[in-house]
Amino acid sequence: VQQRRTLAATPHYDIKKVGVVGLGLMGHGIGLVSAQAGYEVIAVEAQAPALESGKKRIDKSLSKILSKAVEKGKMTLEGAEKEKEKVERRITYSLDLAALRDADLVVEAIVENLDVKIPFYKQLGSLVKPTAIFGSNTSSLKIGDFAAPSGRPQQFVGLHFFNPVQLMRLVEIVRLHETEPAVFEAVRGYVARIGKTAVTCQDTPGFIVNRLLVPALVQAMLMKERGEASVEDIDVAMQLGAGHPMGPLHLADYIGLDTCLFILEGWVKKYPNEPAFIVPSSLRALVQGGKLGRKSGEGFYVWE
Ligand code: CAA
Ligand code: NAD
Repeated sequence: VQQRRTLAATPHYDIKKVGVVGLGLMGHGIGLVSAQAGYEVIAVEAQAPALESGKKRIDKSLSKILSKAVEKGKMTLEGAEKEKEKVERRITYSLDLAALRDADLVVEAIVENLDVKIPFYKQLGSLVKPTAIFGSNTSSLKIGDFAAPSGRPQQFVGLHFFNPVQLMRLVEIVRLHETEPAVFEAVRGYVARIGKTAVTCQDTPGFIVNRLLVPALVQAMLMKERGEASVEDIDVAMQLGAGHPMGPLHLADYIGLDTCLFILEGWVKKYPNEPAFIVPSSLRALVQGGKLGRKSGEGFYVWE
């Protein structure tokens, strides 16, 4: 009897249905890799035009991945067409958060803004079944700040993917003190099934990668502001001299300058005594001018 009671009290987290909220740069990739791994995916956006562009991004990326597989002889043309249909059939799109009511895992990839994320999690917590796990893809915010408003901190993790999700092989799993071991294991299973490597980290600013990477992007922006080297030379230097796949200013454009600014402004406000957290004036000026990097067509570079 004792044993039966223990088993019944421990919820079993079996992830089959994955909800993704926000189909921007990150969310569309998270939805796609989940569907490719065989999960049923519910993809939710706030507005119709963003939903439409999310769908287009998924379609374009899936076509690219499959045509590459055909080129490399890993798949026949018919096989690729069938696979495309199969993956597409696994994804349902919606503008209504309530579509997530029976999701087993909800991955949130909406804007990097606490004032948006907190009300979002309050609403999500009231709509989705009580056993669902929530994973936030935040780059820089404290997971604990919105795990509590969600009403289920024991079923909450940071689930930090890297851009472009389809190609980057890492996911950081941020484990809170409250995260139940069974939740953590279920999330680890999800990350393994989508073919990524997981690292575990604590709820500290920027986790592992961004705590090291973002201050380096800041230093590159400050170097440019001081006129010490051109944008192109800074990037070529770090590519060829340090073996980075992209130079830091190219990478900032790739991440999105609005996201870089949200990250840094949030950190400066919350940790004013940390000298590595600085908002470069060139970054602020570019974002104020609507230059958000690759996604808007211009940032440190002009993008075709
Ligand atoms: N979907 C499908 N296919 C894609 C794709 C996508 N989104 N993006 C690229 N591809 C394809 C390309 O079309 C290309 O196909 P072909 O070989 O047929 O041409 C193939 O993948 C490889 O692309 P590239 O030729 O562009 O490959 P690359 O070797 O230059 O690598 C890269 C691209 C992986 C993006 C590499 O430049 C890289 O690693 N850059 C650094 C990225 C990085 O640091 N990301 C982390 C940012 S920080 C972050 O994400 C965290 C945060 O919170 C801000
Ligand atoms: P993005 O601006 O490309 O996309 C955000 C999407 O969320 C938009 O399509 C927007 O319409 C949607 N959205 C906003 N509020 C919403 C709501 N209440 N409900 C549903 N959808 C909503 O941003 P992104 O670059 O994909 O970043 C998303 C998250 O991922 C952020 O927390 C960011 O810090 C994090 N992240 C970004 C990167 C990166 O390189 N860009 C990498 C890792 C993590």
